[in-house]
Amino acid sequence: MKHYPYQIDSLESYKEAYKQSLDNPAAFWGDIARNFSWMHSWKNVLDWNFEEPSVKWFDGAKLNITVNCLDRHLEEHASDIALIFDANDPEEASRHISYQELYDEVNRMALVMKARGIKKGDRVCIYMGMIPELAIAVLACARIGAIHSVIFGGFSARSVADRINDAQAKAVITCDGAYRGAKQIELKSIIDDALEQCLSVQSVFVVNRTNTPVSMIKDRDYWWDEEMLNIPLGSFCEPEPMNAEDPLFILYTSGSTGKPKGVVHSCGGYMVYATYSFVNVFQYQLGEVHFCTADIGWITGHSYIVYGPLCAGATSLMFEGIPTWPNASRFWEICEKHRVNILYTAPTAIRSLMGLGDEFVESFSLQSLRVLGSVGEPINEEAWQWFHDKVGKGRCPIVDTWWQTETGGIMISNIAGITPQKPAFATLPLPGIFPELVNENGNVIEGNEVSGNLVISHPWPATIRTTWGDHERCKQTYFSAYPGKYFTGDGALRDKDGNYRITGRVDDVLNVSGHRIGTAEVENAINMHQGVVESAVVGYPHDLKGQGIYAYVIYQGKHNESQDQLRSDILSTVIRIIGPIAKPDKIQFVQGLPKTRSGKIMRRILRKIAERDASNLGDTSTLLDPSVVDSIRQGAL
Ligand code: PRX
Repeated sequence: MKHYPYQIDSLESYKEAYKQSLDNPAAFWGDIARNFSWMHSWKNVLDWNFEEPSVKWFDGAKLNITVNCLDRHLEEHASDIALIFDANDPEEASRHISYQELYDEVNRMALVMKARGIKKGDRVCIYMGMIPELAIAVLACARIGAIHSVIFGGFSARSVADRINDAQAKAVITCDGAYRGAKQIELKSIIDDALEQCLSVQSVFVVNRTNTPVSMIKDRDYWWDEEMLNIPLGSFCEPEPMNAEDPLFILYTSGSTGKPKGVVHSCGGYMVYATYSFVNVFQYQLGEVHFCTADIGWITGHSYIVYGPLCAGATSLMFEGIPTWPNASRFWEICEKHRVNILYTAPTAIRSLMGLGDEFVESFSLQSLRVLGSVGEPINEEAWQWFHDKVGKGRCPIVDTWWQTETGGIMISNIAGITPQKPAFATLPLPGIFPELVNENGNVIEGNEVSGNLVISHPWPATIRTTWGDHERCKQTYFSAYPGKYFTGDGALRDKDGNYRITGRVDDVLNVSGHRIGTAEVENAINMHQGVVESAVVGYPHDLKGQGIYAYVIYQGKHNESQDQLRSDILSTVIRIIGPIAKPDKIQFVQGLPKTRSGKIMRRILRKIAERDASNLGDTSTLLDPSVVDSIRQGAL
């Protein structure tokens, strides 16, 4: 018997599901949603218009996602393992947390938060390493209806403060420190710095992970363990009845303007879509171990470490460390040790492991692996082949999953072992997803063997609902370029069989090691450095990271330092303002930037120079001063 009634199990059933979703999307998703636990049913499955935009799935229904992640599994699966934790230090014992244990801990933490006055609708910022308490914190927020905003542990105090202030978060959950490979990150002290600029935060809960001495501020900072001790084991926290359209979380992501935006997902639709896509794309079978290597600070971790797997009653593996520490066998050791069945990772990790040599993977049989997955950036054919041959030993299908923070779940992907795979192609849309390619004039490009901008013409349950505090921005960013359609910001091509290949961003957003970074954000950070007059940032192809960051900088400060020293000072500024992930790979000092008469930087030219493709720069006649191009070209790095 299929454990999930909505699980696709043949090419025919994929085609049938796709057809049904096309004929009547509301009926299709309504049938799927009935397999979840609701406190009250919906009035309408779907109300929408993409003009405002307004998207409502299952409106009027009441639910709590944690009932679906936890309570629902207790009757038959209480002792099944919900989370496996593998620590940064391979010598540290791993932890196996059953559904019953996870349920108990989430209930206690939810009560801890309630006791400190946190209630439905309050925002809670979570800034932690990849330890089980992070998943518990996320679920405890959802249990009481507080809106979580998880911030990746690599962001700087200033980035954290901006996000806390934007959401007006009332509480923060953090750790004293986090282990990451050979490094230790002092999370609590970063939070202390951030909170100097944040007036909304009333309480901070601190997990002791690294035994790092930290300063604890009276009546603001509380140790997680001490707080939990106040709540007896076995305590029950009533799950907050949430409207399907109430926000579940905010997740900040970069766009083409300087300020990251808070993508908002709702409770009902997100739950249905994260679970549906998890169960189908990976063809999850009950009892299997699913290892998603992302950090919960990104959408991949939200949907495919926490919510999707737990709603499906799966065993989800959380890894605290990095793939290359203490050596490049780390992933493979984990796969063997925990008999991992599904490994879901990013091309950047695959490329870096590939570059370190086959010997690290070859000594592992990896027999338990059944499905491999890739996410976050285009996977080049060489990396795909290596993943397939060396990791999957030629027998595991690879799902190349295209999606975004805004889409909440996987949108275009092959279905493991069921729909055909094609290296470097995300292939076909999931049921309920209607992609189109459009040209610059907004006309839909019909037929196959074509390319254009990728849009989605109809809502799916995990559609972005708004950008926190600024609905107009959501409309402008996603729903205005092609009225009536959701614009992804990606370019794509469609082959003769209708398979999609994502070619990359068509806006000013970079994808560096699978992380989204806005060029304007990096420019703003560089411009904060003393003596920098102006800068322009573009991406260029990078063997390991997919894209590298190339910065052109006009510096007019005092030149008593060497250029190398100046570069390293600018890097420190970027790290301090955004975090290490936004560090430029190359900084070229220039006298001027190529600008049009109206003062617009011609990035096309800068991109070509950064890509070392400066032989044909196209039309430069509209430039204010064409001679700057030659001098930039001569100084190119
Ligand atoms: O450009 C696409 C790329 O990552 C962007 C979304 O980034 P983010 O919101 O951080 O979410 C990443 C994880 C879902 C997309 O606009 N992208 C994501 N997956 C793929 C991809 N590009 C090519 N192939 C993919 N499989």
